Amino acid sequence: MILVTGGTGLVGAHLLYRLVSENKKVRAIYRNERKIENTKSVFSYYTENYNTLFNAIEWIQADLLDVPALSEAFIGVTKVYHCAAFVSFEPDKYHLLRKTNIEGTANIVNFCVSNNIEKLCYVSSIATLGNTLNNEYISEETNWNPEDDNSVYAITKYGAEMEVWRGTQEGLDAVIVNPGVILGAGIWRYGTGNLFKKAHKGLKYYTSGSVGLVSVDDVVSVMTRLMDSDIRNERFVLVAENWTYKDFLQALAKAVHAKWPKKLANSSLLNIAWKLDWLQHKITGKRRQLTKQIAKSLTTETHYSSDKIKTALNYKFKAVDKTIAAIGNYYLNRK
Ligand SMILES: NC(=O)c1ccc[n+]([C@@H]2O[C@H](COP(=O)([O-])OP(=O)(O)OC[C@H]3O[C@@H](n4cnc5c(N)ncnc54)[C@H](OP(=O)(O)O)[C@@H]3O)[C@@H](O)[C@H]2O)c1
Repeated sequence: MILVTGGTGLVGAHLLYRLVSENKKVRAIYRNERKIENTKSVFSYYTENYNTLFNAIEWIQADLLDVPALSEAFIGVTKVYHCAAFVSFEPDKYHLLRKTNIEGTANIVNFCVSNNIEKLCYVSSIATLGNTLNNEYISEETNWNPEDDNSVYAITKYGAEMEVWRGTQEGLDAVIVNPGVILGAGIWRYGTGNLFKKAHKGLKYYTSGSVGLVSVDDVVSVMTRLMDSDIRNERFVLVAENWTYKDFLQALAKAVHAKWPKKLANSSLLNIAWKLDWLQHKITGKRRQLTKQIAKSLTTETHYSSDKIKTALNYKFKAVDKTIAAIGNYYLNRK
């Protein structure tokens, strides 16, 4: 039995589809029944007659912080994909981010160790990597720098990786993937799916930085192949291509037949924007859209190398322009 956490989110739902398509016995944890609709929505991306596949999933209600419920979820489990996380860049969510991402991952690792799980695959992020000088490529070897102005999300994803490495010291076999921005269809209300929705409404501005992109199909393929391989206790950057934000936002707009963003939002404008966003949050309580760290990343050029995974699995990533076009097409037809 395979256990999947985060099955109501983008990565977990696409992973569940892959696993049940391959007739694997799968259990998934969920917190709120309503959110299982996300998984159905992702399944409907692949096929209209998804019910049989969907019904093959065994759902168990469990929060990452609910130890008794997790204990039940682990009964009979041999492999674990840990995709659940709280994804937020809002500084005042730091406590919840730490609880979910670090303590939640520690719980998963502890159950893996005590249940002699064969292998754990943890979905981390490129946010846990450090920076390079002179625009050199960032890779698995580019270590976290605690002196950087790291986002609250990055700090807690890094802490979660430390929990996984701690588990490997206690005898657990694990692999970690560090994806860039993951592109996938089916969930439009938030996350990267929401970018298609925003692009459809019309984006005015682009920024000068760059972004590492990868399709959810690639993320899922690499995760399952790593789990079926002899590779253990290593991490892998998953970035298919490095794009400028300008190209990315224009491709999104093109994919959903919307107007292209034509104005550049430079660092000065973004600096004012994140401060206004903070002020608005303080006065009205509205959720933060832009933080200092996000503003910086939007104007920073970073390049990621996925050579390690390409060599380890002889892996070829999907072309990002085709992925964006396919998701855009699906968005227009299946809103
Ligand atoms: N999307 C990206 O571009 C991207 C890029 C790099 C790395 N990642 C990483 O990839 C993983 C999956 O991301 P995603 O895009 O699929 O995220 P997502 O769509 O936001 O899904 C997050 C999942 O985690 C679950 N979750 C959150 N808190 C939980 C808790 N306390 N207990 C149990 N489940 C909990 C959510 O359940 P509910 O439905 O109940 O909220 C949901 O199923 C995350 O670890 C993320 O950090 C994502």
